[in-house]
Amino acid sequence: MFKKETYIARREQLRKDVGHGIIIIQGNHEAPCNYPDNTYWFRQDSTFLYFFGLQREDLIGVLDCDSGKDFIFANDYDIDDVIWTGPLPSVRELAASVGVENTGTLADLDKFVQDSKHSVLNSQSAVHYLPPYRADNRRQLGVLLGIDYDAVPRYASMPLILACVRQRSIKSDEEIAEIEKAIATAYNMHVGAMRMAMPGRYEYELAGFMQGEAWKGNGPVSFPVIMTIHGETLHNHNHNHKLELGRMLVMDAGCETAMNYCSDITRSVPVGGKFDDRQRAIYQIVLNANLEAIRVTRPGITYQEVHTAASRVLAQGYKELGILRGNLDDIVANGAHSLLMPHGLGHMMGLDVHDMENYGQINVGYDDETRPSNQFGLGSLRCGRRLQPGFVITDEPGCYFIPALIDQWRQQGTNKDYINFDELEKWKDFGGIRIEDDILVTADGCRVLGKPIPKTVAEIEATMNS
Ligand code: GLY
Ligand code: MN
Ligand code: MN
Repeated sequence: MFKKETYIARREQLRKDVGHGIIIIQGNHEAPCNYPDNTYWFRQDSTFLYFFGLQREDLIGVLDCDSGKDFIFANDYDIDDVIWTGPLPSVRELAASVGVENTGTLADLDKFVQDSKHSVLNSQSAVHYLPPYRADNRRQLGVLLGIDYDAVPRYASMPLILACVRQRSIKSDEEIAEIEKAIATAYNMHVGAMRMAMPGRYEYELAGFMQGEAWKGNGPVSFPVIMTIHGETLHNHNHNHKLELGRMLVMDAGCETAMNYCSDITRSVPVGGKFDDRQRAIYQIVLNANLEAIRVTRPGITYQEVHTAASRVLAQGYKELGILRGNLDDIVANGAHSLLMPHGLGHMMGLDVHDMENYGQINVGYDDETRPSNQFGLGSLRCGRRLQPGFVITDEPGCYFIPALIDQWRQQGTNKDYINFDELEKWKDFGGIRIEDDILVTADGCRVLGKPIPKTVAEIEATMNS
């Protein structure tokens, strides 16, 4: 946890921003895996962590914008719990540790909400809550506020969403330090796995190693590990293939610190430790795009523009290989290059690996000025807005030869003026490559966060062969 003044200041700002009424911020509950007592590892809600910092399950935070008071409501544990868990701090003690003076039971919360006379059913809704992403929290809100389960998302508060986005988008120095801690663990995950990427090993051995390294850093992985010799599938969670010479291995993995700040790193390496000519050619194109994004990222530019700058570098590289043809501006304007990268350049990262995605991506990555494109590829960009100092964002270009997509575009004649489909046939067995760094927007540019993880062809070959 940060010091309690951090949480006090964040809540003060949120009350001021939202202005009136009450704000309800639910913590998470335990989530059963295969029977109630066998749970997944507990993951606290990120908004709750941001404003209250506490890791215990079943807590509910309330901010009263009118009185300026903050509350934590939860039932204390009794001896039946304590014999299984050991001694635990009371709700009052937990609340005090993050500067909250007012506490109550869940029954007290019911009474508080009734007495406040606020209701989501007023046209000027003065009960503010975020769209719940877990069924148990959605049900709890419905019961508390007297609205149907199905109607709960409809009344989520846009002023609250936007106020949370404003605060959480700008990372403080102490948050950056946590993210860099997560990247230090990701360094161990990636460098260790690179050295294991030899023919005869199975993907699950490397994925398992990475998960162990994450827990050695005292946190879980930040999303299910992607470890695949079929990197053409963007989020491939199958780990059953045997590593074979001639395949590129895509490793997209990160971890969370004990405070749940994330890393999200991708490296792609040749099985066996030596790039062949085709692998080196495609890798260098993707690396050039990753470096171009770092070169141009600065306050005031939109991430849509950065995506486009990286896309030009990719398209230029494919032109030189004979895969694309024609005028570079036309290729990029028509999205012909997106056949080989059907995703966006990156997303915000912080307490969530896709930061704040539960608020609705459009509310996080876009604003009144920047709207999502409806073009294939660029339309999948999770964050397109103008950058500000303090944003942490991923830079993750890739190249994917997806046979079914190539066949579809060829059949439909999509961008046929710019794509040499006959040449592309030769690449259909290649797989994919992605390179991903986490970058901080600074006052006059950007900085790649964390200890540098081998990224050039020479660095990767040297690491894999040492
Ligand atoms: N790990 C998923 C992503 O890079 O967005
Ligand atoms: Mn990733
Ligand atoms: Mn990412």
